[in-house]
Amino acid sequence: MANDRLHFGWFIPTRGDETRIGDPTAHQEPSFEHFMEVADACETAGLEYTLVPVNPTCYEAWVTCSMVAARTTKLKQLVAARPGYIVPTLMAKMIATFDQMSEGRIAVNLISTTSPADGLFYEHDERYEVMDETCEIMKLVWSNDHPVDYDGKHFKLRGAFVQPKPYQQPRPRSYIGGVSPKAREVSAKHADCHLFWGERPEEIAEIIADIRSTAEAQGRDPAEMDFGMRLQIILRETEEEAWDSAWDLISGAPDEFKQRIAAVAGGDSHANQRQQAQVSAAAADDYRIGPHLWTGISTVRAGAGTSIVGNPEQVAATLQEFIDAGCTEFCLSGYPHDQAALDFGRLVMPYFADRVGV
Ligand SMILES: Cc1cc2nc3c(=O)[nH]c(=O)nc-3n(C[C@H](O)[C@H](O)[C@H](O)COP(=O)(O)O)c2cc1C
Repeated sequence: MANDRLHFGWFIPTRGDETRIGDPTAHQEPSFEHFMEVADACETAGLEYTLVPVNPTCYEAWVTCSMVAARTTKLKQLVAARPGYIVPTLMAKMIATFDQMSEGRIAVNLISTTSPADGLFYEHDERYEVMDETCEIMKLVWSNDHPVDYDGKHFKLRGAFVQPKPYQQPRPRSYIGGVSPKAREVSAKHADCHLFWGERPEEIAEIIADIRSTAEAQGRDPAEMDFGMRLQIILRETEEEAWDSAWDLISGAPDEFKQRIAAVAGGDSHANQRQQAQVSAAAADDYRIGPHLWTGISTVRAGAGTSIVGNPEQVAATLQEFIDAGCTEFCLSGYPHDQAALDFGRLVMPYFADRVGV
């Protein structure tokens, strides 16, 4: 896309929804019915896409996205996919088939995590090699009408040919997240959009500059790339209510739940390590890293824990700080996800109405 238009997406909680994170009495079990409540809320709110994660505790992402796409008309699906779990030619076929059948309503969020529990033992940087080769192969088979060969470190193909070709041309968008040197390198080579978990806007601007210069060094026009934030939104009519809701949201998690989260977040993900370092550094400041940026959720949730907390004007102004830093995509969530999407659509989307879309 790589223009100034803004794109807003939302998260479907495929491991269940909650009003107080980690509190079993405030947990709503995952169900297709609730995924559709969130998806319908997103369409009503004028959000462009939903992100569906991949994780052992979640419903399976491809199946969920297919079912949601079949029941919606405008909403796009950003499906999380782990290279290495699906061989590249099959992943190319799955994306292209989805793209054809939904008439262009798929993008893919390429995820570098793998798990020994699933029988895959790639090291951190090796996972990005597998991602790199997967992207190369998908581009190759989508753009060739004849069988092709490929010789990589992880994949060797003979006579590879994939039908159907994608509906979106030249291909559906790919997203990559992460802050490690290897994530930046592979993203600079392949991603249409690089996604960040929350950091301060000035830090995001620095990483964007680094990824753009890496892209340029690889011979790619850095203007082809978009950048986006994956953030939590805690939005209320008044600032005071928003902060009360923020603290309430993390008030029900038992200590052993928090310890489990800290252990997960302490893996080899640089992005997760940065989130946890941010939490430790901000603990004495009530987990605040800016007037309306809060890392409290990272005490009870791995991954995307940074939140914007405030009234509609404050939330919009904080999003604008990330736009000024170079972001045009916002992949957001709030608890519970259907009501939070409706509130965001009603109270914040109007601030960006003339800048949203293609
Ligand atoms: C927006 C975003 C969404 C992500 N979604 C998932 C996910 O669904 N499942 C998962 O296992 N990891 C997910 N990740 C984790 C990344 O794939 C990756 O492991 C992480 O960013 C660490 O990368 P790094 O060590 O290169 O910084 C996500 C990361 C980002 C930024």
